[in-house]
Amino acid sequence: MKIPPVKGTRDFYPPQMARRNWIVDGWKKVSVRNGFEEYDGPIFEYLKMFQIKSGDEIVEQLFSLQDRGGRDLAIRPEITPTLARMVNQQINSLPRPIKWFSVPRLCRAERPQKGRLREFFQWNIDIIGIDSPEADAEVIFTTVDYLRSVGLTPKDVQVKISSRRLLAAVLRGAGVPDEKLDSLYALLDKKPKLPPETFEALLAEQVPDAKQARAIADFMALDSVESVGEVVNNDEVQNAVVNLKVVLAALSLMEVEDYCVFDPAIVRGLAYYTGVVFEVHDIGGELRAIGGGGRYDNLLRDFGGPAIAATGMGMGDCVLEILLQEKGLLDSQVPKRQVEYFVACADHVFTKDMYRITAALRSRGHAANFSYKLGGLSKQLKAAAGQNAAACIIIGQEYAEKKQLVVKDMATGAQELVDAEAFLAGLDVS
Ligand code: HAM
Repeated sequence: MKIPPVKGTRDFYPPQMARRNWIVDGWKKVSVRNGFEEYDGPIFEYLKMFQIKSGDEIVEQLFSLQDRGGRDLAIRPEITPTLARMVNQQINSLPRPIKWFSVPRLCRAERPQKGRLREFFQWNIDIIGIDSPEADAEVIFTTVDYLRSVGLTPKDVQVKISSRRLLAAVLRGAGVPDEKLDSLYALLDKKPKLPPETFEALLAEQVPDAKQARAIADFMALDSVESVGEVVNNDEVQNAVVNLKVVLAALSLMEVEDYCVFDPAIVRGLAYYTGVVFEVHDIGGELRAIGGGGRYDNLLRDFGGPAIAATGMGMGDCVLEILLQEKGLLDSQVPKRQVEYFVACADHVFTKDMYRITAALRSRGHAANFSYKLGGLSKQLKAAAGQNAAACIIIGQEYAEKKQLVVKDMATGAQELVDAEAFLAGLDVS
């Protein structure tokens, strides 16, 4: 009986694994150069961790389970609640600001579709303990720093930036009561995914006042921060505008403004955001979000800790990989399987020497391989080329007679005869 893989999961055969490793290595490298330190947590947590403040959408997508002691658990759909829990646990001893990154494996019982699976990897960067807008800018800069490092340009991707604080100010200014804000955020976040009539009908249900609904629609259609005051204007709106402008100015200073644009339609699906929010999208708008994040100043407090400001970002591997593939930026950059030396023999009588020399090379810290099925020498050279060997060591007649090896440079084809023992002695562990 053949058992298929579970819906929404992926098997990583070596070529897929090489792509995943390259993506993850890039995330880690960029995190480190931007001053973030790596952390991780458990793959499952108490179910209630994700029910506290992540929002209905995530709760509906949880893979939950009960352990033998009857505890209700869930596989992590995101790592931000774990981060809040971990930071709260050591709040008095951790030097601040906390700048941490992680690449957790996450599970969400979403409907599998292009770029959305039930198991994926997600790069997270978070800054905890800084309430100034420059920290939001640093998170966005780090995100762009990665995108740029893999060759994505402002012609390929865009960071769309808005602010929950600004949206809240506009909604309140338009007369929407506070208790309606959370459910309204969830609806506004779904706007791009809904047919316009459906969105308008749902909006009318939540905001029956036509003037208020008009103000919301007008705000979401704005294309510059400067014009927010034309829709709704008061001190709260102006303060939120100033805060957002500081973020945008810092991004200009860091010379990534080409990647960034103000987009008031960005609301974010998660419930815990309180300030600047952003999403990375492909310019064509064909794919789901590549990444997203924002400020969440209340989450640590909601998890029983002190009120400490926080801002961060999550980027999954699925959409990113699709986009990189479409742009021809993936396979050209993923390192190929490579060995330094491929040890071949011209006759099976040298088989034992082949094992000994391969082992000697490996013991000295070099990547070396050989064929179990010898075939002819040309077959072995083909295998060497298939593994992108830099050099091939051929054990032949000269070895039998004078203990000499042929070293063939696979790039140039040049061959050299060397004394076997002297050659091995010269290859000390690097
Ligand atoms: P999120 O918007 O839920 O945010 O997810 C961020 C990114 O994770 C998405 O833009 C997407 O790239 C990827 N992602 C989400 N769900 C899936 C899925 N089912 N399949 C593949 N990729 C997916 C968060 O998770 C926040 N915790 C991010 C954050 C960190 N905010 C502050 N700090």
